[in-house]
Amino acid sequence: MATNPDPWLRALTWWRKGAKRGWATATVGFTIVIFIAFTLFSDSRNYTDGVHSTDDLVPLTLLQRAQATGAFCLDGSLPGYHFQEGFGSGSANWLLHLEGGGWCNSIQTCNARKGTALGSSKYMGRVVRFDGILSRHPSQNPDFYNWNRVKIRYCDGASFAGHPESEFKNGTELFFRGQLIWEAIMNELLSLGMSKAKQALLSGCSAGGLATFIHCDDFRDHLPKDATVKCFADAGFFLDEPDVLGNLTMLAFYHDVVKLQGVAKSLHKNCVGIMEPFKCIFPQEIIKNVKTPFFIVNPAYDSWQIQNILVPVASDPKGYWSSCRLSIQKCDSTQIQRLQGFRDSMLKALSMFQENKEGGMFINSCFVHCQTLMNETWHSPNSPRINNKTIAESVGDWYFDREVSKQIDCPYPCNPTCYNMDYTRD
Ligand SMILES: *[C@@H]1O[C@H](CO)[C@@H](O)[C@H](O)[C@H]1NC(C)=O
Ligand SMILES: *[C@@H]1O[C@H](CO)[C@@H](O)[C@H](O)[C@H]1NC(C)=O
Ligand SMILES: *[C@@H]1O[C@H](CO)[C@@H](O)[C@H](O)[C@H]1NC(C)=O
Ligand SMILES: *[C@@H]1O[C@H](CO)[C@@H](O)[C@H](O)[C@H]1NC(C)=O
Repeated sequence: MATNPDPWLRALTWWRKGAKRGWATATVGFTIVIFIAFTLFSDSRNYTDGVHSTDDLVPLTLLQRAQATGAFCLDGSLPGYHFQEGFGSGSANWLLHLEGGGWCNSIQTCNARKGTALGSSKYMGRVVRFDGILSRHPSQNPDFYNWNRVKIRYCDGASFAGHPESEFKNGTELFFRGQLIWEAIMNELLSLGMSKAKQALLSGCSAGGLATFIHCDDFRDHLPKDATVKCFADAGFFLDEPDVLGNLTMLAFYHDVVKLQGVAKSLHKNCVGIMEPFKCIFPQEIIKNVKTPFFIVNPAYDSWQIQNILVPVASDPKGYWSSCRLSIQKCDSTQIQRLQGFRDSMLKALSMFQENKEGGMFINSCFVHCQTLMNETWHSPNSPRINNKTIAESVGDWYFDREVSKQIDCPYPCNPTCYNMDYTRD
């Protein structure tokens, strides 16, 4: 994998193609153009007020305070976030979402990121759309719509957990400041009112989901003792599973990420005391030491994991998997059997967490990756359900203690509500 281009950047391209085709409309594109024109001629800071915002596009705020502590993106630029203020009964509640985007595991792949939004705020879109769990509309986001909502941009390449001690002192200009970015973001949001939070939820998707596992208890420690604080990772439960050739591709990849950026310092000492740090970054290990109530959303056939853990391109030289890894509908029965084995591994890795009384889960049998950022998968008439509950309803049931919420779907293809990605279409 180290010799390949960054797998996430490839996946992202596919995702965007899918997004363009299915979900974005010409109207949306037009609105974005108008909005950018608008923000160029106005003070965007005044516009971050959720109550008065005229649409769902939320501007980027650069984290100025990061300058003082050197909490920089890979290229040395300032990190950023998007904030929409809570209103009504949600004014004292905070929902944070950590953006995902894979990891870089080498000088080469980290350098490549410096020229993208995943390594530099220079390339970040100046506005993002708040949909799904970030939406301010109760019909799309029934439980969190009026909370303070923050999307935290990802630009360090190591799930907000890199350390500057690992930087090169020989002219290779890469900043490994993920942990510092996390701390600077916490301080910023505490100063914006989060220090008086009554209810809070840390969430994140993919590499941001992994960051949610890593930082959950620290998030809890920053908030008032009497606040309700919980964490929820979407598509962040990456498995330590061999690929189809039997090679430990993912383990080797995490080994390189952890070593390159000195991530061990952000992992739990109980774990790094008894095993190698690159094993301690797997969520199935992290979760053993998390004390804060946690919810895990993950498709059992996570499309990113199928494409990068189970069937990385390098492990399929004959192309036997070339269609199936991109679209579950194109798998033959032998391949489906292999995917069922992947699901079994996921359920096994989750079995201890399943006993956790404060925990919740939603493991649906769909071929997709992140499901919380789009209303099509988070909460809409056609979004995926288990036992007739959407992901939004299940997470809400758990967060507000309405009912025990541990949903495990029957195996593929039993669930007709799935939103299955098809990356073979152009
Ligand atoms: C700096 O050191 C790293 C690790 O030893 C090496 O891979 C890299 O090529 C060096 N860079 C330069 C510019 O010498
Ligand atoms: C996978 O393992 C085989 C031996 O089992 C080895 O020959 C091959 O180089 C490995 N491939 C990759 C992509 O690591
Ligand atoms: C999803 O969100 C978009 C943008 O807010 C909206 O236009 C669309 O109608 C929503 N779709 C559903 C199914 O709720
Ligand atoms: C499923 O939930 C919807 C509300 O979200 C409800 O209208 C419908 O009756 C439920 N269906 C079943 C079979 O329970």
